[in-house]
Formats: sequence, structure tokens, C-alpha cells
Amino acid sequence: MHEQITSRYTAESSQCSNLSCGGNLDYLILAAGESVLDLGCGRGRETIAAARMVGPTGAVTGLDITPAMLDQARAAAREAGLETISFVHGDIENLPFADCSFDAIISNCVINHARNKQKVYEEVYRCLQPGGRFVISDAVTREPLPESVKNDPQAWADCFGGAVTMEEYLNNIRTAGFSDVQIVHRRDYDKNGYAFISLTLLGIRPPDVNGQV
Ligand SMILES: C[S@@+](CC[C@H](N)C(=O)[O-])C[C@H]1O[C@@H](n2cnc3c(N)ncnc32)[C@H](O)[C@@H]1O
Repeated sequence: MHEQITSRYTAESSQCSNLSCGGNLDYLILAAGESVLDLGCGRGRETIAAARMVGPTGAVTGLDITPAMLDQARAAAREAGLETISFVHGDIENLPFADCSFDAIISNCVINHARNKQKVYEEVYRCLQPGGRFVISDAVTREPLPESVKNDPQAWADCFGGAVTMEEYLNNIRTAGFSDVQIVHRRDYDKNGYAFISLTLLGIRPPDVNGQV
């Protein structure tokens, strides 16, 4: 599965195609000095925008599984003269970060590629500070996709075969610990004859019981 994904995105890395499915930074108010993680950062477009929002006292990390994407993202950050960004190679199902490392986590059109979406959201929960929030855009479906599509690795790489229904996706997030998830934007569209929805979601890791935020 990862082979088809990295192969697709290695080819995309040097293109100008839009790989996003939502405008998650439109719904995330970042303060100066905050720490942000961008899951599946691709060429780093939103990583760089987030770094500008948190300013020189903040810190932004972009993570991606495709080395060629990380090369492009590092070059773009250098060109932008931003020294508060770091890029890390990794898998969204096993994040290489300590618990409670980030104030905010963003991701745009990435988690549909993951086999275990609940594990991804458990990792998001673990890496957010109590009181921290995520704004994530992703593709989901209205109805379950047929097994033939679900079992096609190339369809998974194409932001298609890995999409689950909106109900299943939201259940995964709630089961991971985010009891309150808001849909802040929704766009319905057709992909290969199936009804898809692009969702932008906001979730907050509850503050600790002792009041720590
Ligand atoms: C559709 S692109 C979106 C890129 C970027 N977020 C944007 O909006 O332009 C999906 C990205 O997710 C990365 N990706 C896919 N599966 C991943 C995984 N399991 N772990 C980390 N990154 C992954 C791909 O390499 C690719 O760069």
C-alpha cells in the first residue's frame, strides 16, 4: 500500500497540482509562539503558512512518508527564509513525537490513505496537549465503497479507495477520544461515479481533569 502511495506522490512532488481537499487554516486561529504539526505535509504549502502564523517564536513540523515531497517542502521553506520549520519522515499511524508535543495539528487530504484511521486519530490525541485542537480536511463517502475498490492499492493511492463513510470516519475520531467534533466545512462531489464529501473538521483534546490546558 505504502509503495503505491509513495510512488504516486514522488511523481506529484515536482508538479504544481493542488493536492488539498479543504482550507483547514481558514478555520484555525493560531497564536504567536504556538507549536503546530502538519500530517502529510506534501510540498509544505500549509506548513509554511502555519509557520508564518505562529511567527519566529513558534515552531512548525511537517511530516510525510514520501521523501521527494519532503525535499520539495524543505526547499520551499528555505526559499521562504523560515527557520522555525522542520520536516520529518514518518507514518501518520506511528508518529515519532512525545506525548503532548503540539498545540495544534493540521492535515489536508491525507488520512484517507491510512489503513487504520482510528489509530491515526489516537496518535493525534496523544501528541496534542490537553486543550489542544486539530483542524483536518479529508475525503469521505456517503455510502461504503465496493470491495473491489477497497482492495485496489492504486485506488488507495489516488485518494479514492481508502475513503470510508462519514459516519465511520466520525466514529473513529470519537473513539480515539475526541468527544466533540465539529464539521466546519463540507463540500459534496462525485468521484469515479461515487458520492464523496470533502469535510473540514475541528476537534479539541479535552483539558486535563485537574484543569491543565
Ligand atoms: C493529497 S497529498 C496532500 C499534501 C498536502 N497536505 C497538501 O494539502 O498539499 C497527501 C500526502 O500525504 C502523504 N501521505 C500519505 N500516506 C501517508 C502516511 N501513511 N504517513 C505520512 N504521510 C502520508 C503523501 O506522501 C502526500 O504527500
